[in-house]
Amino acid sequence: MTTPAAVIMDAGAYEQAVEDAVEAAAAYYAGGTSSLDDDAYDRLVRGIAEWEAGHPDQVLPDSPTGKVAGGAVEGDVPHTVAMLSLDNVFSAEEFTAWAASLGRRLGHEVTRFSVEPKLDGLAIAARYTAGRLTRLITRGDGTAGEDVSHAIGTIEGLPAVLAEPVTVEVRGEVLMTGTQFEHANEVRTAHGGQPFANPRNAAAGTLRAKERAYTVPMTFFGYGLLARPDTAPALAGPLGELSHSDLMARTAELGVHTTAATLVPGVVVDAAEQVLARVKEIAALRAQLPFGIDGIVIKADLAADQQAAGSGSRAPRWAIAYKLPAVEKMTRLLEVEWNVGRTGIIAPRGVLEPVEIEGSTITYATLHNPADITRRDLRLGDHVMVHRAGDVIPRIEAPVAHLRTGDEQPIVFPEVCPRCGSGIDAGQERWRCEQGRNCHLVASLSYAAGRDQLDIEGLGSTRVVQLVDAGLVTDLADLFTLTREQLLGLDRMGATSTDNLLAAISAAKGRPLSRVLCALGVRGTGRSMSRRIARHFATMDGIRAADAAAMQQVEGIGTEKAPAIVAELAELAALIDKLVAAGVNMTEPGATPPPAPGIDSGMGGAPHDGPLTGMTVVVTGAMTGPLEKLSRNQMNELIERAGGRSSSGVSKKTTLVVAGDGAGSKRAKAEDLGIRLSTPDEFAGLVADFIGWFDSVHSARAAETNRHGVCAASAARTPCRPCRQIRRG
Ligand code: IVH
Repeated sequence: MTTPAAVIMDAGAYEQAVEDAVEAAAAYYAGGTSSLDDDAYDRLVRGIAEWEAGHPDQVLPDSPTGKVAGGAVEGDVPHTVAMLSLDNVFSAEEFTAWAASLGRRLGHEVTRFSVEPKLDGLAIAARYTAGRLTRLITRGDGTAGEDVSHAIGTIEGLPAVLAEPVTVEVRGEVLMTGTQFEHANEVRTAHGGQPFANPRNAAAGTLRAKERAYTVPMTFFGYGLLARPDTAPALAGPLGELSHSDLMARTAELGVHTTAATLVPGVVVDAAEQVLARVKEIAALRAQLPFGIDGIVIKADLAADQQAAGSGSRAPRWAIAYKLPAVEKMTRLLEVEWNVGRTGIIAPRGVLEPVEIEGSTITYATLHNPADITRRDLRLGDHVMVHRAGDVIPRIEAPVAHLRTGDEQPIVFPEVCPRCGSGIDAGQERWRCEQGRNCHLVASLSYAAGRDQLDIEGLGSTRVVQLVDAGLVTDLADLFTLTREQLLGLDRMGATSTDNLLAAISAAKGRPLSRVLCALGVRGTGRSMSRRIARHFATMDGIRAADAAAMQQVEGIGTEKAPAIVAELAELAALIDKLVAAGVNMTEPGATPPPAPGIDSGMGGAPHDGPLTGMTVVVTGAMTGPLEKLSRNQMNELIERAGGRSSSGVSKKTTLVVAGDGAGSKRAKAEDLGIRLSTPDEFAGLVADFIGWFDSVHSARAAETNRHGVCAASAARTPCRPCRQIRRG
């Protein structure tokens, strides 16, 4: 979706708009933060361009539409070849029109486009003489830039010495990855500095800063390679004849980082429609990238096409930036709320002045923990940069410190649990109510009763509130000793609802250990980790007997997590005993306990054998056919029963991706990595023998439900959930 251009009504508004844009661009190129975020700046410049199109005689000389890089910081090192900017398009239609106009200019359609990410950093020229990095220059105003050679040695991907002794200039983008940005702000604030607002500012500020007491790493990606006309003869051969893609391959051969090794490598395609398909793929992968991109750059790949198209004073005619919607906007931090989760963790959440990012209105952003707030020096009333990519929970990137007025207030941390008033255990980064999971019993019980845990139909949070308020349930185990009379005594609980709930609770007693463990809500273990632990140890006794070393034998549990899980299980000992006494199952069907230490049976905790043995499978999109009714958790259980390993993210380790309708970035990534894809139907065929396990579990449950007369196979009535699940295909 394209955000509309700013509307400019008259010459006065136009002048003001140019002034604002010039000021914002100056701050941008100087590594500072303007009061406009990127999206607002783009809108403003498009408004300026629209007004200028209707008033060509009134165009101001410093309009950002006519400059190489409006408001850029000038430097004193001349560029041998101007460092141009790029024109932008904001939609498929605009891109198609651009491609058509390029074709008209060339007299033929372009048949080789190179498509690569538009990296969100700042442009630099790196001069290599006889293979040695001798000078780094910023883009500046495009004709001359600033010498930032002091940064040599701090930029990953830009080697001090090339693989060959060539004299060339590599052009590309310096940026900070998310991790580098966090690190830079930590180091900077520890030295008494103000945090950078976002990774781009951090890279710009860091690159230009001389004589700092500390250095922080940055990352470079090359997107251009030129021979150096200032040193004759150039040792690099006739680079000017090479296509852009060949130049990039050459750049990588020389040992310079390019996007080739990333999730979104540059590709060459032969038609505008394929460009648009690749744009979609890159856009879908954006949220998973460890660095920021703000668009996709499309270039005529062939040197002959580039030369024939030529360049304007600001931008080449053979390349265009397809801008993606901003994922980062500036807004204000109004308040910090402290919420207690189901395990008693007290988590801060920022309340924001509502801001729209990619079509969603963002009013809250995660703040992780109190230490995170302190580290980032956030204050109430601060202007903050908020980042939201894909479905990820929005996060506050950093305060925009230079916009502070002095009226900002410190964020007050709670002294007692904001929910129950008990003391706070502040011994770890994440603070916790001293009552632990009993503090927010309703949340922890509702979670335990949820579909992927004990799956207790009819025990939603309203019912849980009733049970807790009536004093009938003080912990998870109390659910299993509820009597018919107690339930009948509750508001809106008739005989049928009561019997159904009792049946559902009784059925929950037989759930596999993995689900019981998950229902306990051990911190640091979710659904798949609970399955791995249960499969590894096979029994609750085995799990409870495990020390940290034994716990570490479970895949995915490292030195930090293992003792935390062991400690948490010790904390839960009384509750587990009570569950055992209530008759809750504490074994994992089909799993065998690990051998005693020193004995290698080759079996302990190993995955089941089956058609997926040795495979790592990712499920994405909507399942159809025989798998239609399975939740994601059930799909993962199915994969593991069939001998595979389930995973949520596609990586080089993935062996199979089951892609259903609406699969997006994970399918694209699988295609990129050449990973086998299957449809839900093909996959169902592969694991057909194991789907039966789900059928038997659910038929048993359905039969139980029938005993209580809910579905009674009556076509006229809505079947209950278990019955819906088996009535598929
Ligand atoms: S090519 C003559 N390729 O975007 C062509 N630029 O908005 C010049 N950028 O100044 C640039 N990723 O700083 C090119 N893959 C890419 C890029 C890229 C990011 C930046 C670059 C440029 C700016 C224009």
